[in-house]
Amino acid sequence: MADGRLLRDEDYNTHFDPDTYVETYYTDFDNAVVGGMMPFVLKGVHDVFKTGDVKGTRLLDIGTGPVPYSVIPAVPFVQDIYLTDFSAVNRKYLYDALFGSGKQDYSSVFEFLVNLNDKSQPWTKLSDDLKDKICGIFPCDLLQDDIFKGSYFPLFDVITTSLCMDVAPQDVDTYGKIAKGIYQNILKLVDIW
Ligand SMILES: C[S@@+](CC[C@H](N)C(=O)[O-])C[C@H]1O[C@@H](n2cnc3c(N)ncnc32)[C@H](O)[C@@H]1O
Repeated sequence: MADGRLLRDEDYNTHFDPDTYVETYYTDFDNAVVGGMMPFVLKGVHDVFKTGDVKGTRLLDIGTGPVPYSVIPAVPFVQDIYLTDFSAVNRKYLYDALFGSGKQDYSSVFEFLVNLNDKSQPWTKLSDDLKDKICGIFPCDLLQDDIFKGSYFPLFDVITTSLCMDVAPQDVDTYGKIAKGIYQNILKLVDIW
């Protein structure tokens, strides 16, 4: 929260501390304050991709923030991964953690997910596979009509997003408009019947 109110827009550059966020939610899974929320969420995302029904070449994650957890379970099922966020601070934090000198290695998240599958695989293999597939970390603002601010991307086969579409809009109508825009303009539709 920023000054007692919910974060929005520019607050994510000025009042959101990526280190505290990652350490609180994604490092100590026994953290009593958040009460086991992330193991629950991580297993849920893992179970969706484990079915093998969700797959494709190109994946877009919207509002990745400072941690790429929502795309990690998808790594074996897609080829090209595009990460995005409104906040330049979070984009830099994520880039540094994955490819630069950032201290964060997300080992808790990778280890948790690897232990749900083939426990013999080192978590670093999943981490390396993720890095190989990331095509970039791009600016994005869900509240604009042109959410990629002038950049053009071919349609995506898979879109993931976590705790972003539900924090950016301030009302249900805006939420619906964003969802419709993503469905109509960014997602490649296939005939599944
Ligand atoms: C609570 S964090 C969630 C981060 C991560 N996806 C997760 O699940 O832990 C919310 C993220 O949404 C981003 N965000 C907020 N408003 C946004 C907007 N209008 N467009 C795109 N991203 C936005 C913030 O910068 C922040 O990184």
